[in-house]
Amino acid sequence: MRRLAFMALAPFCVLLLQGCAGWQSALDPKGPAADELAWLIWFFTALCAVVWVLVMIALAAPLVMRSRPGDEPLLLDAGAERRKMRVVVTAVGLTAIILIGLTLLSFFANRTLAAIGSEAVLTIKVTGHQWWWELRYEDATPSRILTTANEIHIPAGEPVRLLLTSTDVIHSFWIPSLAGKLDLIPGHMNVLDIKADKPGVYRGQCAEFCGAQHANMGTFIIAEPRPKFDAWLNDQLQPAGAPASGEAKAGADLFLKRPCVMCHRIGGTPAGGTVAPDLTHIASRKTLAAGTLTMSRGNLAAWIADPQGIKPGSHMPVADLNGDELNAIVAYLEGLK
Ligand code: CUA
Repeated sequence: MRRLAFMALAPFCVLLLQGCAGWQSALDPKGPAADELAWLIWFFTALCAVVWVLVMIALAAPLVMRSRPGDEPLLLDAGAERRKMRVVVTAVGLTAIILIGLTLLSFFANRTLAAIGSEAVLTIKVTGHQWWWELRYEDATPSRILTTANEIHIPAGEPVRLLLTSTDVIHSFWIPSLAGKLDLIPGHMNVLDIKADKPGVYRGQCAEFCGAQHANMGTFIIAEPRPKFDAWLNDQLQPAGAPASGEAKAGADLFLKRPCVMCHRIGGTPAGGTVAPDLTHIASRKTLAAGTLTMSRGNLAAWIADPQGIKPGSHMPVADLNGDELNAIVAYLEGLK
């Protein structure tokens, strides 16, 4: 019977454990901050489970221990009363000790988290917008400051400091595999330090309801070995490449004549809008519209043709383009690697 129950439950247990793994799970930590938090989650859960079981036993005990025939229920037994009082006092004392212990654990975990950023090698300002992430890689040399969107590249094994703020409403930045969540608040700067132990791709998600497209406000952290990260950063600092074909050239001209330039910037061209994602190297990113679509020629065309159908309420307006014009602009954008 027990064996049968085990066989029936095994697939569910496997599914449950698999649910804890993956590129967006606080229970699958890939950095020191997430390690610390995962340990706290498991410890709190285990301890609270033990306390819950003990309380349930204490509640159930009087129900099970029926009075025997001949007992005098209203007769006071001073010795028994003293024993019960001692049990209650011990339980209250244990509760206080457990609460103080858990508070101390939280305090020391916070100290560990704060220490991660003390040697940060890179500072990235992350600004939340409805509904995308603006990223600014800070540098003492102005020409080495990089502005990009949605996809955060960091060197693996090195601590990185994120400065979090917002231009509109409160958002919350959460990469569960790497760190806890922290709010992005208009007019205020929060500091979040992260470190990825190994190269990998980690998914993040806005964790504070911020309007209609809150669920489509994803982000990715791509941790790479230092040489690969440096190469990426140097590539991204370059202005956009020249259009590679006649169609792409026509697309570039069209882009500059249309209202696209009012919102988007493309480095090395007159397009200098800053209210929407920087497109200088848009085709090098893995997704479009803050993780809503994977990057492909088809999805680029679909997004430009009908942004409100894909992400209703987003601030990307419908551009008035015929089929040839749309193809030309897509040809230009997909060349911006
Ligand atoms: Cu931004 Cu939810």
